[in-house]
Amino acid sequence: MTEERGIDVQGLVREFKGGVRAVDGIDLRVAAGEIYGFLGPNGAGKSTTVKVLTTLLPPTTGRATVAGYDVAKQGAKVRAAIGVALQDVALDPMLTGSEHMRLQGGLQGIPRAERGRRGDELLERVGLSDAADRKASTYSGGMKRRLDLALALLHKPRILFLDEPTTGLDVQSRTALWEEVARLAREEGTTVFLTTQYLEEADVLANRVGIIDRGTIVAEGTPAALKAQVAKPTVELVPRDGGECAAASAALAPFGEAVAPRTAGSIAVRLDSGADQLADIVRALDQANVAVMNLALHEPTLDDVFLAKTGRSLEGAAQEAPPEPAAERERALA
Ligand SMILES: Nc1ncnc2c1ncn2[C@@H]1O[C@H](COP(=O)(O)OP(=O)(O)O)[C@@H](O)[C@H]1O
Ligand SMILES: [Mg+2]
Repeated sequence: MTEERGIDVQGLVREFKGGVRAVDGIDLRVAAGEIYGFLGPNGAGKSTTVKVLTTLLPPTTGRATVAGYDVAKQGAKVRAAIGVALQDVALDPMLTGSEHMRLQGGLQGIPRAERGRRGDELLERVGLSDAADRKASTYSGGMKRRLDLALALLHKPRILFLDEPTTGLDVQSRTALWEEVARLAREEGTTVFLTTQYLEEADVLANRVGIIDRGTIVAEGTPAALKAQVAKPTVELVPRDGGECAAASAALAPFGEAVAPRTAGSIAVRLDSGADQLADIVRALDQANVAVMNLALHEPTLDDVFLAKTGRSLEGAAQEAPPEPAAERERALA
């Protein structure tokens, strides 16, 4: 039955002491086998939503069902149906990868004979076979993430929650994790609820994206549909002389609406009638005697969607983490 793999959230609010409304009345629905990307900057309310949906926090008001069970009233049933990898990975530094898998298998009542095999299989799938007998304290950040994912998958959950699974990972580890998540949805029909600060992650991986900002969902749809809402390309330029910004803005004003630029110090305008205005724009700048150091045309991205809905740039809000060392990359799951 399809609803057994779905998520249904209505009017969900989670308030913390002191009146912070971390989640401020959200509605969303995730269908069976879908990868839902919950995209938003730091502090938007992503982790709080995940904690409510995984029964770690009770909702203040509103209702949510996961796998057909009410998160507030049927916690044990929800927990049996889901796998969770939280943003702050909780591992025992003194236990090895294999020991973590066996312990978790025991907690989840997986028969002893099966525990070892299933544990090994999952460690292999996330590229940790070689490190299976090393203590978790020796693992890199990426390896810890992968062990945590393997643990979340041990009891074959129908629905998987991943809270910022790739934050801080280098590009290769990130891509490998995307592949595994896509495979789970495609081959095993796992429903995936994934939070991220990365536009590209939502764009590449998610069937549908909900953009959350300050506790509310500001846009929702497939990445293509969201981008089509913004539709118009943006031209962005940097004047050679910083003092010419005002003149450049004036020259561009007839072509469309000024929007926040992606890079500080440049000027951006969302074009009213598309890229064929580019020649006219160059002419107008020339007539205004504005020398241009750099001029670029951007097709709409999810960042433009975020910008259009919130007036701020998501890319500026989410800081890229430093890449991991090369040794870690070589062990990235294949
Ligand atoms: N336990 C808590 N007590 C008080 N405020 C909290 C708590 N957890 C989160 N918040 C606040 O709720 C808001 C949303 O946090 P969070 O859900 O962690 O956002 P995200 O995961 O999108 O970064 C933030 O303003 C955060 O400071
Ligand atoms: Mg978070």
